[in-house]
This record gives sequence, structure tokens and C-alpha cells, in this order.
Amino acid sequence: MEVQLREIRKHFGPVKANDGITLSVPAGSIQGILGENGAGKSTLMKILSGFQPADSGDIVLDGTLVQMRSPADAIRHGVGMLHQDPLDFPPMSVVDNLLIGAPGGVIPRRREAAAAIAGEARSLGLSIDLRAEVGSLTVGERQQLELLRLLWLGARVLILDEPTTGISAEQRAVLFSTLRRLAGQGKTVIFVSHKLEEVQDLCTRVAVLRQGRLVGAALPPFEVEGLVNMMFARQVSPGERMVCTPGEPMLRLSSLGVERGRIRLSGLDLDVRESETIGLAGMEGSGQSLLLRACAGLVPTVQGRIRLNNADLTGKPYRQFKKRGVAYVPASRLEEGLIPGLTLTEHFLLADRQGGVFIDREKGRRLAQSRIEEFNIRGTPANRVESLSGGNQQRALLALVKEKAKLLLLEHPTRGLDIESVIYLWGKLKERCLGGGAILFTSSDLDELLRYSDRILVFFSGRVSALLDAATTTVDELGQLIGGRGV
Ligand SMILES: Nc1ncnc2c1ncn2[C@@H]1O[C@H](COP(=O)(O)OP(=O)(O)O)[C@@H](O)[C@H]1O
Ligand SMILES: [Mg+2]
Repeated sequence: MEVQLREIRKHFGPVKANDGITLSVPAGSIQGILGENGAGKSTLMKILSGFQPADSGDIVLDGTLVQMRSPADAIRHGVGMLHQDPLDFPPMSVVDNLLIGAPGGVIPRRREAAAAIAGEARSLGLSIDLRAEVGSLTVGERQQLELLRLLWLGARVLILDEPTTGISAEQRAVLFSTLRRLAGQGKTVIFVSHKLEEVQDLCTRVAVLRQGRLVGAALPPFEVEGLVNMMFARQVSPGERMVCTPGEPMLRLSSLGVERGRIRLSGLDLDVRESETIGLAGMEGSGQSLLLRACAGLVPTVQGRIRLNNADLTGKPYRQFKKRGVAYVPASRLEEGLIPGLTLTEHFLLADRQGGVFIDREKGRRLAQSRIEEFNIRGTPANRVESLSGGNQQRALLALVKEKAKLLLLEHPTRGLDIESVIYLWGKLKERCLGGGAILFTSSDLDELLRYSDRILVFFSGRVSALLDAATTTVDELGQLIGGRGV
């Protein structure tokens, strides 16, 4: 199906999120939408998929002007969107989840639908257990599920908003080949990203947004420098490796064993020293997130000890870890980190709460304002967190980490951020290292792991490699270890 957007405008108060965008996407193409954080990509896609109305402008599908008043309207017209943070209903089984919103109700068509979906999944090369509980799926699996659901509902235009943040390289490869197949069938794929390599790899055309406007378009072969210039209107360079000299051991794990679901780690010894950054690499679900949670006291230890600055915290609750300077920042921003419905001010007030009864809103507002400036968050103290773009939510999460936190446990800290924000945030994080802080973080970005870690641990289905020196490890070596060779 051919998609035409004409003069789309959407303002949020003074912010011109979309400032007259006109774009045509032919059927069977994979259209990349590039742009830095806050460029207006998600806004445009939400308009096209009926999640929010435009202030003005037209949507034309295969030559016909259509009105999209809701996502249900959009899917009736064949337009479906996969969100940046996958929406779903965690306590349900996969197949029931798929049937929500399908015509005919859940029960009567369950078996028939399950067969149809399984067939669709197979033909796309996806393997998903339809009887599993959605809550037990990884972000990548939920995404495959959501894609199947949209196809099942009849989508002929598929919109994916930053779909590769938070999924493993392997899942990304599966996703890309699925999208290529769908485009081959004549479906229209719109792929929103700020990652140039992905757009180069996948897309058959690209449009670049900046500050709410369409500032450029390109066809393959894509020229990186030109695209970067369009995105940022200036050159960026990722900056030098920053080295902090490590100090005394801060966190000491000895023969640590933890278990959660199918994953178990055992006999893990690790010292994390002051000023040190340790990257945890591996496919999603290989144990790296489990280790982070164990170091925060969020999952029980089944074996071994956790010591922090000589205090034995084995078996102690998260509260105790927090009191001693541990901060844990999860990857799923709207599920665990931020509270939808609350404003930035309210978040800072909550984070700063000393246990008193009175809440000083004015103080909260000032605090929020200063952190917004410090972390370059595009938003105001009164903005609810869910109205911020994904990258700005991530900045807000990191801005909420207390100054006095000494050990930062960060799950995918730069997921969803554009290059500039990544550089900026790591600058901030490394300042903490210079001040004696230590960082343990997970990432599925090999360059990020190599550039910002001092040492790297690679996880492969619960097994852990020896500590690698990040300065002398290559992307290839790291990739091989992540794939299970040599761990
Ligand atoms: N619901 C909203 N309320 C207020 N401002 C918003 C809302 N949604 C988006 N914005 C603002 O519009 C601009 C574009 O945001 P968005 O479309 O999410 O950008 P992108 O997806 O390119 O990062 C940002 O400045 C963002 O803060
Ligand atoms: Mg976005």
C-alpha cells in the first residue's frame, strides 16, 4: 500500500513536533525515518497510526484520503504500529494476547487463530511459543508477537518505532529478515531509527527529520556523512576513550550464585573497583541483567557473598544496598523506572523524599528544572514522563540517580538515544567515575561496550568469560564470545 503524508502539523504548546511534513512511501519499500532525539519521528508515526490526531494535514492511502481517529481505525485501513515500548497484557498467554482486538471474540476462534498465527510465524521464520505467558517473553519476543498480531489484524503498512533498542543482535537479524520478507510481499515498512548502520543495512529509502521538519531524503547507496549532516547539521565524532585509574575494590562478589527462571549463574568472582566501568556483554537473557539485579539486592543469592566497601550485604534487601550508595537503573523505563501519569517534578520529589510528611512542590519544581537543564531533557517540570520521547525518558531516569550514589548498575543505559545523547550521557557517567564512582552496565552495542568499559565480562547462557581488557579487545573477538565461542 502506498502511503502519502501531506503537510502534517502537530504542536505541543510551543513545541512544533511536526512542522508541515510531506512524505510519500511506495508500496513494497522499507522507508527509513532518521532523526535525532526529539526530531518528531514518533509524533509523525503516532499520527499515521491513529494514536493521536494531527493539528492539520492529510493522510492518503493508495490515493484515498483517510481519517484515522484511533489505532482501531488505522488497522481497519491496514496501518499498524509497533511501539517503542511494546504494549501488551503481561498475565495472558501469547495466543490470547494476539486475539485481543481481533474480530469475533477470544474464545471461539482460539484454536483456529493459534493455527493461523503459528503458520504465519513459521512462514516468516519466527519461532514463538504460543502457550507461553507474555510476561515471560523478552523484549525481542514481545516485539515478534506484536508484529504477528498486527499482521493477523490485516496490517499492510507496518510502522516500527526504534525496534532494535533492547533486543539482541540475533533478534535484530531475525527482525530484519522478517521485514525484508514482508516488503517482498508488497507490504510497506516504515522503520524509525537514529542508528545509521541499521538504516543502511535494511532500508530501501530514507527520510531525515530535524526539529519537526523533513530536511532530507536519500536512496541507496546511502552516504553516511551526508546523512549525519542532515540529522545534526554538524559533524559529530564519538570522542576518545576515557580512562579512569581504578582505585580500591568497592564491590566484591565471591563464588556468587543466583537463579531466576531458566538462568542461573554460579561461582562468580568479581571485584569492581572505584572509578571502574565494567561492561556486561551477551545475548539478551544470558545472565547479565540477572547479575545487575543481584548486585542491587533485587534477587536472592543462593550461594556465595556480596560485599560492598567491606560490608557484607549478602541476602540484604535493595533498601540496604541503596542506603550504601547502590543505584539500579532498569531498561524498561515505563514498567520499572518511571511512573506513567506523574510529572518530572513529582519524580524528583519522590526520589528526593527523606521520609517526611510534607512535600515542598516548589522545591521539587526547582530541582526538576535544574536537572532538566543539566541533563538536557527536552521537556518541562510539569510534563508527564510518558509524554517525553524515549531518549528523554532515559535522560530523566539517569537524572534521577542520586549524586551520592557510588555504584551505578545500569541496564542498557543508552538504549533509544541518538549518538549525541550517548556521548553526552557517558560524559556525565564518566564524571562520576572520576569522582570515585563505579559502573556496571549491560549493552547490546559492541562499540559502546568497547569504548566505555575498562573491562568486559561476556555472558553466554549463564556462563561467564574471563574479564577482558576493553582497550585491547576487538569488535570481532567480542562478537565471537557473545556468540558462545570460547566462553
Ligand atoms: N504528548 C506530548 N506532549 C508534549 N510534548 C510532546 C508530546 N509528544 C512529543 N512531544 C515533544 O515533541 C517533540 C518531538 O518528539 P518525538 O516525536 O517523540 O521525537 P522523536 O521520536 O524523534 O525522538 C519533542 O520535543 C517532544 O518532547
Ligand atoms: Mg521517538
